[in-house]
Amino acid sequence: MWEIDKKSKQPIYRQISDQLREKIMKGEYTPGSVLPTERKLAEQIGVNRSTVVHAYDELTSIGLIERKRGSGTKVSTQKWGISPAGSTNWKAYVDSGSFLPPHPLIQKIHELSHNKSLWNLAGGELGPDLFPDSLLKPQYEKILGAEELFEDEDPQGYRPLRETISHHMKEVYHVDTTADSIMITSGAQQAIYLMTQCLLSPGDAIAIEAPSYYYSLPLFQSAGLRIFALPIDEEGINPEDVKVLYQKHRIKLVFLNPIFQNPTSVSLSEDRKKELVDLCASLSIPIVEDNPFSLLSYDEESGSLMKSKDQTGNVLYLGSLSKTVGSNIRIGWLIAPKTVIQRLMDARNQMDFGLSIFPQLVADHFMSSGKYQEHVDRLVAELKDRRDRAIEILERDFKDYVTFQTPHGGLYIWLRLKTPIQDSKLLHQAANHGVIIMPGSVLGSSEGYIRLTFARLAKDELEAALEALRQTFHSLIK
Ligand SMILES: Cc1ncc(COP(=O)(O)O)c(C=O)c1O
Repeated sequence: MWEIDKKSKQPIYRQISDQLREKIMKGEYTPGSVLPTERKLAEQIGVNRSTVVHAYDELTSIGLIERKRGSGTKVSTQKWGISPAGSTNWKAYVDSGSFLPPHPLIQKIHELSHNKSLWNLAGGELGPDLFPDSLLKPQYEKILGAEELFEDEDPQGYRPLRETISHHMKEVYHVDTTADSIMITSGAQQAIYLMTQCLLSPGDAIAIEAPSYYYSLPLFQSAGLRIFALPIDEEGINPEDVKVLYQKHRIKLVFLNPIFQNPTSVSLSEDRKKELVDLCASLSIPIVEDNPFSLLSYDEESGSLMKSKDQTGNVLYLGSLSKTVGSNIRIGWLIAPKTVIQRLMDARNQMDFGLSIFPQLVADHFMSSGKYQEHVDRLVAELKDRRDRAIEILERDFKDYVTFQTPHGGLYIWLRLKTPIQDSKLLHQAANHGVIIMPGSVLGSSEGYIRLTFARLAKDELEAALEALRQTFHSLIK
């Protein structure tokens, strides 16, 4: 008997593979016995043949069954594959861990991203051709002889880098801070993770923008947090909504990406920034200001930081080199009160004894050399060019399919589909046409939106990718 629940969140192929595994473990199918053909089992269960193929593929990959052309699918005779007592059911372990897997469509996008023949408009990062190789290389050479490589590392992060960042925050953003208030992290992501673990408890309520990059992170759900959405209009989130959420749910933290927000590229207006900083200070709700994009400004000044308006230390600031240098350098920083930094530092020490000195030395040499600014200037000019080309094509060829606002900075164009298409169907069909897209539902919007990254592909590739996307729409919308 097969018990398949088509309404379950668990994919059907998983239900089949789990039940088949159980039947094998219980001895219903013995080693060497032949399993039903894919077609027969699909008929018996009432599912597509491809679903059974997927289930069989999964069990084949862990060695529990074997598939041979001509002789069908058999239960493996390998000892570890069949012994009910001797083999560890890793899947049961993996499923029972508290860390949740990524959204299924994100998993699919990761899978598709390995296929280098597809144009990638989905990934949120800079393209590899924008990585400042030639500028970084001399920094690598310098650090190889650096004495710091052999000294005890500082759990808060390499002090000279913290000083360089403190200087950068003053120069660029008029934020007064000191090396003591800065903690270097492995990307902004590590700081976000540490904050959820150290400043919040399961059951706590937080507020995040909707849509938002954070929806693609099961990190908050894994930490047992209750997540409430702050809708975005053309001026960003509305401070009134924060007040209402506080009154209703006693939210304990507001996570925001106020400048060139991922995925909408909208920036919070100056008036609202001020209003929010004052409101949250008066309610004692800390704001996390996550700011990876503000240097990538194409038409106008990117606006001030909430941190620069913060008189009380209520704004926890997150910076990152991921969107200006490249995400593989894994350098981010947190500006926070000393007690917060101490707590997060202790937690990280328990996890992994702290950050490697290598990327910190590279980042420090690069940021303090003047080369960083030179690189950012060039990067901004190139990204502006890519954005302009993408907008030109969208205005010319996509009028029937989407509406959008031209982003003034960041890496993304947020497309609203005139005719909503089911996200999984759109992703599938786009891949068939040679392009990977990021459906908005993964980022917390309703279906009918796409985040388009214009930073990953060079201009000619971007043109080819957009043509593939146009053909996708053409094939789906009659
Ligand atoms: C808004 C936002 N915050 C944080 C991150 C994580 O950045 P990092 O690579 O510094 O961990 C990203 C990455 O896409 C992002 O878009």
